[in-house]
Amino acid sequence: MTNQHVLNQPLVLQNGVVINNRLCKAAMGEDLAKKGKITPQLIQLYEAWGKSGAGLLITGNVMVNKNAMGGKGAMCIEDESDIQALKKMANAAQKNGAQLWMQINHPGRQATTSINKETYAPSVVPLKPKAVFGIPKELTHNEILEIITRFGKTALVAKKAGFKGVQIHGAHGYLISQFLSGLTNKRIDEWGGSFKKRTRFVLEVYREIRKNVGKEYPVSIKINSADFQRGGFTEEESIKVIKLLSKEGIDLIEVSGGNYEKASMVGQELKESTKKREAYFSDFIIKARQATETTLMLTGGFRSVQAMADSLRENELDIIGMGRPFARNPIVAEELIEGKIASYPIPKIKTGVKMIDKKGFLDITWHTHQIKRIGNGKQPNLKVSGWFILRKMIKESIFSRK
Ligand SMILES: Cc1cc2nc3c(=O)[nH]c(=O)nc-3n(C[C@H](O)[C@H](O)[C@H](O)COP(=O)(O)O)c2cc1C
Repeated sequence: MTNQHVLNQPLVLQNGVVINNRLCKAAMGEDLAKKGKITPQLIQLYEAWGKSGAGLLITGNVMVNKNAMGGKGAMCIEDESDIQALKKMANAAQKNGAQLWMQINHPGRQATTSINKETYAPSVVPLKPKAVFGIPKELTHNEILEIITRFGKTALVAKKAGFKGVQIHGAHGYLISQFLSGLTNKRIDEWGGSFKKRTRFVLEVYREIRKNVGKEYPVSIKINSADFQRGGFTEEESIKVIKLLSKEGIDLIEVSGGNYEKASMVGQELKESTKKREAYFSDFIIKARQATETTLMLTGGFRSVQAMADSLRENELDIIGMGRPFARNPIVAEELIEGKIASYPIPKIKTGVKMIDKKGFLDITWHTHQIKRIGNGKQPNLKVSGWFILRKMIKESIFSRK
């Protein structure tokens, strides 16, 4: 079988659901919603990605509470009020055979005070700079239960709107990650303390979603291989969580890493040994494979058909996740599968100022700019400089202050 054939094999999930091939557009926040609502730009974007050639598309993280927004332009689904637009979005993405899954998230302390009156987290452990993120309030037991209910509600709306699956955002330092990590979860009640208690929140979120969407509907999670911070979520803990969720019956586990403090998800501050391989968390995925029979996806760094096909042939994983290539080239999956390109390298976005370039936000904002262009019916403009994006960010942050 050629490398392209390997990528083009259908993937059958344990529940019998079939994904057309082994490429997934991983979740990328679109910044195109208005007050949380679906816009024509979002529909246009997903129509474009529906033709990308990827068998699976995962939305950018969708909020469960308009008072806890991860970004100003993030989608927020609290009820069925926006279901008609959601249906259009799901249809636009899926009419050519791809599946669209909704990623569901609560930002916890990774939420700015410029767009949120207050922020909430498992414990009062502020994220720096405090001027941007404020000091989070510790969630009460009842508030935790309310958030769990919200995850379930949003998932049910996704199902009713025709999305073919959902993904829990359990990675990148957001609320679920905050509960899992001993650095951010200092609670001594039933939601924290021991490792087992730190895992309760993610398990309850999964169970609530499953209860609402039923046994046959694909439910996935994106989880960190580790936070790469001393005292934080470790690889060993991640493997244990993977085992727990597999036992519960989760359908697909996507592996990533990092958070706002260490943006390993986009390849920043990785160990030298990790950088030698194309995919960032490739050592970890092998350990995960030994720990579970659940379908596995790895996201971060994959660029060449060769590396993707090798990982699939070696049975290290079942499906390849890619983010940034889809922001630069909305038909990248088709070009890879059809052999038009052998690889899609991503150059580093730079300003030349080390302090800025080593952080992940510039890279993420540069790619968000391209995603917004696609949503507005334009082609990505790969000539846009890091400086242009930085200036834009500064301007927007000044105007968004209360
Ligand atoms: C602009 C942008 C937005 C992102 N938004 C999300 C998100 O909403 N949810 C998520 O799980 N990951 C998000 N990510 C991370 C990607 O899903 C992916 O893990 C990361 O880009 C590494 O994959 P890549 O090397 O193929 O880009 C985002 C990345 C970028 C560049």
